[in-house]
Amino acid sequence: MVTRRRVLTQGLQVGAALALGGFAGRSLAQQTTPAHADEMTINSAPHARTGALLPATPTPTVLPKEAEAVRGENSLQAHASKHGLVAGTAVVVRALQHDPAMQQLIAEQYGVVVPGNELKWVALRPAQDQFNFTDSDALFEFAKTNHLLVRGHTLAWHNSVPDWLQKSPKELDVRKLLVDHIHTVAGRYSGRVHSWDVVNEAILPADGREDNLRKSFWFERIGPDYIDLAFRTAREADPHAKLTYNDYGVEYDNPDETARRTAILSLLRGMQKRNVPLDAVGIQSHIKAGSPSTIGKGLAEYIESVRQMGLEVYLTELDVNEDDLLFNDVAQRDKEIAKTYRDFLSVALANPAVKNVLTWGVSDRSTWLNDGPTHFRKQPNRPQRSLPFDDAYRPKETFFAMRDCIDARTV
Ligand code: XIL
Repeated sequence: MVTRRRVLTQGLQVGAALALGGFAGRSLAQQTTPAHADEMTINSAPHARTGALLPATPTPTVLPKEAEAVRGENSLQAHASKHGLVAGTAVVVRALQHDPAMQQLIAEQYGVVVPGNELKWVALRPAQDQFNFTDSDALFEFAKTNHLLVRGHTLAWHNSVPDWLQKSPKELDVRKLLVDHIHTVAGRYSGRVHSWDVVNEAILPADGREDNLRKSFWFERIGPDYIDLAFRTAREADPHAKLTYNDYGVEYDNPDETARRTAILSLLRGMQKRNVPLDAVGIQSHIKAGSPSTIGKGLAEYIESVRQMGLEVYLTELDVNEDDLLFNDVAQRDKEIAKTYRDFLSVALANPAVKNVLTWGVSDRSTWLNDGPTHFRKQPNRPQRSLPFDDAYRPKETFFAMRDCIDARTV
């Protein structure tokens, strides 16, 4: 324990030192709104926080006894590793740097971290001729200090294109820019990344193309082969990382998501046919409590199809949006949210192709779902209880649901 605390303190010092560096280029105002927005995309578009949803209590300075009770062999990671899985979470580096208790919680509970924003274009590229690695370097340092793997997220995503690039003249060679970016970023961290979400959210059937590709910035400026190009370049830049295609909207049994699953599988098959290097498929896993659709056959068959293609499956961004729960009672909501985790994980973890499970955040103190417009509309004054730990870093029913589902895995 002494050693662990020392390591964490060192991590904090490194983080704090790096935090002094600037972070040009990543204000919400600078994030771009997509031309074609579906619900997920709207959720991930920029929105100012109202303040009403900020946590009411101060950040814990030490972990509560309830968190201590689930460390060591009781942790998510200890249970995961017994069942062929790695447990993980997204982190926001700047928040982590000022929160030693959260650093400790992450080090105790998880085996892999993914930077929530720090490796996106908007974060890394303040200008065409500039890179800012301050925060991403701090994240890698934190991971190293605490013996955590890192997932890289993401090299090409329609929703993180800096303003200067959106507004760039048509003559700008965007193909070369993407290739250079991937060489520089994936090259910098080569050998230190478990897996890269090379391309994120490239499919949008609603855009009406036969191949179902989203008419994103990258698509419009490079053409449909931007995906192959990104993966080939990523392999060159980091031959060790598992190259992943990551997307949302594949979890439910309903016509929309059936169409999305079919479209994604067809994209992946095409890539394999063209010998594009591809190792894994990410299922974002942003699911909803109280959804009228079920999770079952569609997801199970999708994961099995991916397995049959020889690819791994990662659950990359799990959380539960509880906007649709109309009752306010916390215990009742927590029960329903935990049940939603169970409904999803009992199906997803049944397939041996699934190798990890990451939530998009650790504690309800901070979830991107509080910033989404669906939330403003439906539950404007109710912070979401979407994650495994509560505001005071106590494990919730969701934590135990996750651990039970991990334990129930027999593959
Ligand atoms: C989100 C971040 O959590 C927010 O802080 C940011 O404002 C927008 O992006 N799918 C993804 C993630 O692949 O990158 C998104 O992260 C959430 C949806």
